Amino acid sequence: MEMIVFQTQEELDTYAAQLFINLVNEKPNAVLGLATGSTPIGIYDKIVESHKNDKVSFKDATSFNLDEYVGIAPENEQSYAHYMNKHLFSHIDMPAQNAHLPNGMAADMHEESARYDAMLEAQPVDIQLLGLGHNGHIGFNEPDVHLSGGTHAVKLKAETREANARFFASMDEVPEYAITMGVGSILKANTLLLVVRGADKAQIVKEALTGPITTSVPASLLQTHARVIVLLDREAGRMLA
Ligand code: F6R
Repeated sequence: MEMIVFQTQEELDTYAAQLFINLVNEKPNAVLGLATGSTPIGIYDKIVESHKNDKVSFKDATSFNLDEYVGIAPENEQSYAHYMNKHLFSHIDMPAQNAHLPNGMAADMHEESARYDAMLEAQPVDIQLLGLGHNGHIGFNEPDVHLSGGTHAVKLKAETREANARFFASMDEVPEYAITMGVGSILKANTLLLVVRGADKAQIVKEALTGPITTSVPASLLQTHARVIVLLDREAGRMLA
């Protein structure tokens, strides 16, 4: 596991963005695993800036997002599809048909999960960006006795709905279910890029990276992967020796 602690958000964002830019410049048809939430926004801004400065083209790249809310249409401002368009896809030249998210409006979540897994199997992810939930979730793989390998629908924990309520008008509007890549699918990516910011995540960073490997901290399973890059700001890294 390679870990870097950054003094400023700017340095962290630049470094993370450059990993994606270098990969796509070396391998134009790279498959990018993407995430939503607060953590990636600065990274996407840097990627967009590089694209606008002609430093990178995504015309042959493909992307897969980790997750989507169930029952929220892509046009809805709260959907992850909308987030991705707003922060990244509408600013770069990746063909729209190459950008994949699980379909949270699918009638049958089992079928949708199988469809998504088949696509991931056919186009393995080169680098998967991950944020970290306060409870140790990655994607929407919540702490549990068992974790799912493949894509699946999941009931969100109360703490996750509360953490995400900031993006909604009221708590009632926060979806109860999401569809997410499973931990098995995530661990199949060639490289995992975990990015964590903020003092409120220092404790879970410590548990995930240095504690026992346990399904009650899903991110601890990252310790089993051969190529993990962890990028932290000073606050998120403050409990690591
Ligand atoms: C988002 C995702 C989640 C977030 C995590 C951290 O696609 O899969 O696991 O990465 O909840 O969210 P933020 O970055 O908002 O703190």
